Amino acid sequence: MTTAFQNVGKAFGNVQALNDLNLALRPGELTALLGPNGAGKTTAISLLLGLAQPTTGTVEVLGGNPARDDIRARIGSMPQESALPLGLTVQEALELFASFYPVPLSVSEVLSLADLTSLARRRAGQLSGGQKRRLAFALAIIGNPELLLIDEPTTGMDAQSRAAFWAAMEGLKAQGRTILLTTHYLEEAEKTADRVVIMNAGRILADDTPENLRSAMRGTRVSFRSELVQAEVQRLPGASAVVVDAGGRAELQTETPEALLSALVQTGTSFSELEVTRATLEEAYLRLTA
Ligand SMILES: Nc1ncnc2c1ncn2[C@@H]1O[C@H](COP(=O)(O)OP(=O)(O)OP(=O)(O)O)[C@@H](O)[C@H]1O
Ligand SMILES: [Mg+2]
Repeated sequence: MTTAFQNVGKAFGNVQALNDLNLALRPGELTALLGPNGAGKTTAISLLLGLAQPTTGTVEVLGGNPARDDIRARIGSMPQESALPLGLTVQEALELFASFYPVPLSVSEVLSLADLTSLARRRAGQLSGGQKRRLAFALAIIGNPELLLIDEPTTGMDAQSRAAFWAAMEGLKAQGRTILLTTHYLEEAEKTADRVVIMNAGRILADDTPENLRSAMRGTRVSFRSELVQAEVQRLPGASAVVVDAGGRAELQTETPEALLSALVQTGTSFSELEVTRATLEEAYLRLTA
């Protein structure tokens, strides 16, 4: 049951939102799609939902065309901005949505997965922002979907709801569902994601496991205080992204910290407050999309 983009381009007028996108989603895997605003993440999801057609290339969803009704019934989606049935209670909204699907999950199970059990009788229009996101998530999974498309799920959720959300993701993954999720929170996604796909300007810059991505982009951050000025720090071998502030505190990135530190010692300058830390995945991401 293939879900894949093959050489997909999508243009809106003269905006090329997607450029030669190739990506296949696998059952039981959670793929996290990351990228700055306007990278093309929501556009990619709208193609999988059949809400828009690719300008070039092909999009296959669960082995077929996403515009087909039988395929559509096997997809659950949580849009970036969702319109909720504001007059209905949480329970009623879930019952209504469940009635659209042949084999829905039970409302009580979904209430629990979305951490909404205590809010079941509250009307959707009376939920807080984060609670509304939880209802949107509950509506996305009520149909017992094989493919889940989730656009920025945790934006606006508090720490407890985020934890509940990620726990639900683990459970849905273990049931063999295919999950594509977009997020701006890399550190949060990397624990649950099997794959991280980083996009910018409609193109994929990286597509790998969180572990491989971290080691492939391994960088070390070095900082120290000295009398060296910006140009001198920049001359240290392997130094990049150098910033020296007015107080003489230098910060830089390097892939060869040993060579850099030995060159620093050889300058004969005295330095203090030396700190050497492994760059985080977040920093690697920022470098990639800069
Ligand atoms: N219907 C549309 N008409 C014209 N341009 C569009 C349309 N939809 C998206 N775009 C443009 O396509 C590009 C990709 O937009 P998209 O919504 O896919 O980005 P995104 O990665 O989801 O960003 P964000 O992180 O802000 O949600 C942007 O430049 C956007 O302005
Ligand atoms: Mg978006």
